[in-house]
Amino acid sequence: MTRVAPGVYVQAQRAMEPSVYLDPAVFEAEKSSLLSRTWQYACHSSQLPEPGDFITYEVAGESLFTMRDTDGVVRTFYNVCMHRGHQLLDGSGTRRQIVCPYHAWTYRLDGRLRSAPHAEGREGFDASEICLTAVKTEDFLGFYFVILDDTAPSMDTVYPGIRDSIAEFLPTIERMMPVARLEFRAEANWKVAIENYNECYHCKTAHKSFSKGVVLPDTYTIEPMGRCLNHRAQSSPKQYYEIDYDASPHAAEYRSFFLWPLFTFQIYPGPILNTFSWRPESVDSTPFYREWFSLEGEDSPVVRRVADEDARTTVAEDLDLVRSVQRGLASRGYRPGPLIIDPDMGLNSEHTIAAIKAWYTEEMEKGE
Ligand code: FES
Ligand SMILES: [Fe+2]
Repeated sequence: MTRVAPGVYVQAQRAMEPSVYLDPAVFEAEKSSLLSRTWQYACHSSQLPEPGDFITYEVAGESLFTMRDTDGVVRTFYNVCMHRGHQLLDGSGTRRQIVCPYHAWTYRLDGRLRSAPHAEGREGFDASEICLTAVKTEDFLGFYFVILDDTAPSMDTVYPGIRDSIAEFLPTIERMMPVARLEFRAEANWKVAIENYNECYHCKTAHKSFSKGVVLPDTYTIEPMGRCLNHRAQSSPKQYYEIDYDASPHAAEYRSFFLWPLFTFQIYPGPILNTFSWRPESVDSTPFYREWFSLEGEDSPVVRRVADEDARTTVAEDLDLVRSVQRGLASRGYRPGPLIIDPDMGLNSEHTIAAIKAWYTEEMEKGE
């Protein structure tokens, strides 16, 4: 038994104890540890095309904003004024400078304080010493990720070789632009949602459309690579949408690169790029976003059709599954069952659940 949080233990090769999915204190502990020390998706580069463009969002309970400076550099800051703590920005938009709505302290786009009304010459005030608190940010194939721990290793260290694997599989990835963004809410703990995403043991039972019309389930494998779970499958011969097999040498393959803990690059046969970004908001509620991409953002009836079919079938089916699991975890009659592990890492294997459990346990044992 390994301790992951005060009073919470996990057993090897069994599903985790229910309390890690149910206890609000565990969720609070995750925010100040695991979720602050792992790479989290911020936004796509196309959301910040011009200097001064910004977007706000939350990571681990912290409001952040990512912004493009006049020299093109993209930076992320905590969304808080260094005077008395008012929030600086809301939603998304464009600013030539950042003006706090409380007392109008004004910051440059690189975070340095430019001016504060009636402050020059006052005791204890030195504008040159004041700067917004920056958050480490990386560009990963046109997708910006952030991490609240300045000492954390780079994405290429955490997900070794994955940047190259994705670029090899989809050489046009940096020219892919979002054409649809769909929002969902899993009524479940974030770990229930990502565990469900990362095993296909349930695919034949629960996902008839996906396992008949998208992939050939018996070819499905998932291989851990660093803190990435690398899903592969061959496309179904009964694909429900048209594929141009000359478009790419990988047109007939399905791949998904899940970047622990809350993001995935998923590539449907075609190739059709789409992403999942989970944004846990409480112990039992996990909003998530599905973004769909096409080359240069061209309108694509095929992408629209697949995005719609996916939302109506696979995503809706998974929402039902995770809602039921969240409820079941709270049952007094539930005891965590054994994980079904296949050394070949094939369709009916839950080795990924064991990997997630090991990563989770390791992070939580480090403490806050
Ligand atoms: S809190 Fe921002 S200017 Fe006072
Ligand atoms: Fe599923």
